Amino acid sequence: MSADGGQGISGAARRRTIELLDEPNRCLAESSDAPYIDLLESAPDSTGLTQDLMLTAWVPMVYERWWRPALGRLAKGITGPGMDEEMRIARLLMGLSHGDTVLDVACGPGNFSRAFTPAVAADGLVVGLDASETMLRRGAADTATAGIENLGLVRGNVMAMPFTDGSFDAVCCFAALHLFPEPFDALNEMTRVLAPGGRIALMTSVRRQIAVSPAKPLFERASGMRLFEPEEVVAALQMRGFGEVHQRLSGMVQFVGARLKSD
Ligand SMILES: C[S@@+](CC[C@H](N)C(=O)[O-])C[C@H]1O[C@@H](n2cnc3c(N)ncnc32)[C@H](O)[C@@H]1O
Repeated sequence: MSADGGQGISGAARRRTIELLDEPNRCLAESSDAPYIDLLESAPDSTGLTQDLMLTAWVPMVYERWWRPALGRLAKGITGPGMDEEMRIARLLMGLSHGDTVLDVACGPGNFSRAFTPAVAADGLVVGLDASETMLRRGAADTATAGIENLGLVRGNVMAMPFTDGSFDAVCCFAALHLFPEPFDALNEMTRVLAPGGRIALMTSVRRQIAVSPAKPLFERASGMRLFEPEEVVAALQMRGFGEVHQRLSGMVQFVGARLKSD
């Protein structure tokens, strides 16, 4: 139960998540009575239509069952991985095992976050971070209904995450990097909160031949989504000290995994 009496994340997950926060946010978290830990006073500035839709009341209602599978299929192509396979790819890229502490950045309603909880077991913890109240409200209700004890949900901005440096063994960011105002600043934040030797799993856009250069700015403006060049994300990870970088392309989507070097 959340502090306001609504169904939300478990008390144990709330306490364990608060331990990962930096000092100012710890105080704020203690006073949050939402069904998740609310650390934002207002939503971050919108990057466009796609992000606006994530803040509505109706998208979270249809997101996990219809919206994400349908748009994902369109982006990945007919032979691309389905949702269960995407979750398996994320777990494999992060090499999850019992006891791990995992951050699911831009978790939406927690569809991937919940799928990670059995892999880290009761002594591990998954934390989902998102900026959308409506997504998190839905995620908190689904987490309570499923009786999941090791998932904490936080309302925060990826551009300035509330966690202390090196808090997580693994970070996942699926279907969101292309929505952020400064994706590579967001990648800096993800790198900061990863422990040395930690793993990252990304799923984001990639420009293929069909999206020819003149159409790219038009697409980006209309959708509010960035279309990355094929080598851009891999190079950004290498520049930030990641090794063992793996990239798989599927339609207009790329899956990228890497490990932060520990020297
Ligand atoms: C398409 S959903 C992805 C959900 C889930 N990761 C998945 O793969 O299905 C993108 C999410 O990014 C979140 N988001 C966008 N900008 C954000 C920001 N600056 N900080 C935190 N979350 C953000 C939105 O609220 C939305 O829930």
